[in-house]
Amino acid sequence: MKLRSVDYGRVKGKYVLLRVDFNVQIENGKILDTFRIEQSMPTINKLREAGARVAICAHLGRPKGEHVPELSLRPIADYMKISFIDDCLKRDFLADMHDSDVVLMENVRFYSGEEENDLEFAKKLATGFDLFVNDAFAVSHRAAASLVGVTEFLPSVAGELLNSEVENISKIMENPKRPMLAIVGGGKVSGKIGVLKTLCKLADTVIVGGALGTTFNYACGKKVGNSLYEPDMADIACEIMKVADDNGCRFLMPLDKGVGTKFEPSAQRTNKSVDEIADMDVIIDDGPMTAERNIAEIDKAATVVWNGTFGMAEWGETWGQSSFAVARAIAKQTTAGKLVSVIGGGETVACLDAIEVCNDMTYVSTGGGAFLEFIEKGTLPAIEVLTI
Ligand code: 3PG
Repeated sequence: MKLRSVDYGRVKGKYVLLRVDFNVQIENGKILDTFRIEQSMPTINKLREAGARVAICAHLGRPKGEHVPELSLRPIADYMKISFIDDCLKRDFLADMHDSDVVLMENVRFYSGEEENDLEFAKKLATGFDLFVNDAFAVSHRAAASLVGVTEFLPSVAGELLNSEVENISKIMENPKRPMLAIVGGGKVSGKIGVLKTLCKLADTVIVGGALGTTFNYACGKKVGNSLYEPDMADIACEIMKVADDNGCRFLMPLDKGVGTKFEPSAQRTNKSVDEIADMDVIIDDGPMTAERNIAEIDKAATVVWNGTFGMAEWGETWGQSSFAVARAIAKQTTAGKLVSVIGGGETVACLDAIEVCNDMTYVSTGGGAFLEFIEKGTLPAIEVLTI
């Protein structure tokens, strides 16, 4: 897939509307995770160096068309030390901009026209600009006004991050080094049906884990105690396993689990085989036998794509050990040059961050939902409008 890209030689003095994904966690005005902001900097810096006048457009949270002060992007403008425009439809600031100036505009989702992809709203958003640059891979699965609608009114191109995401993820989907291993964890089968089916057709082996893996265990007749899982997804889980079977893909689910008596960080951990789970057990992590099996699979693989943790990695080592073990194994094989590793999803990236192995991976995506949908469909609505 080839996207129209920025011609940096032709942007000097031009007004550029740059869409990024700054949907990051902010608590009491403090940004908790700057990964997405850092990943947006190459495009911002290149446009700035080329003398463009850049207004950044972004969203935060889901304000549903209301002005929600807690979801203001002002803390990010402060963090980046750039001017903040408190309404994304204001245009008077453009007259005061000089070449290489960069400003950040307020949350575009404060207008309902954004998520509705309202063309009147998109037209207003495009007003005053010469060029639209989409660098917001992580929200490119949403057909919103600032991502799709706006392309009807402005010449539109992809930024550095968007290009890099598309290139790196497409590479492993179109021509993976084999054997290819896909690891899918997280909470719900229901949010990942499409991507699981795609991976079962493409990968040599699929491993499922976490609460999502528990639903597969349940579908295969195992007891799951008092745990998080989706009983109504059992039929779908069987359908997914059939896709794997039909495509010669090995499908591996958890062998054992770390259980407690309550779903709390302070719960006492016991490891049990999936055949021994009792009615009152609360599954909080995959077990050590599963982690060992997963590491052995990683050691055999030439490509790994991973989304979704297996336990509560955010609670630390006790309940994150199976996720950390997998992260360490992927990091080791990747840095040894034996593995191409592509990782996506907020919790998964936070897990890598927690043990400082983010930089050891071949590619870490900024996308969560977008990462999964791009793997599933090979394109996204906001990317489709930029293809050559
Ligand atoms: C994300 O954080 O995954 C993207 O910004 C999309 O956010 P949304 O799910 O609220 O559309």
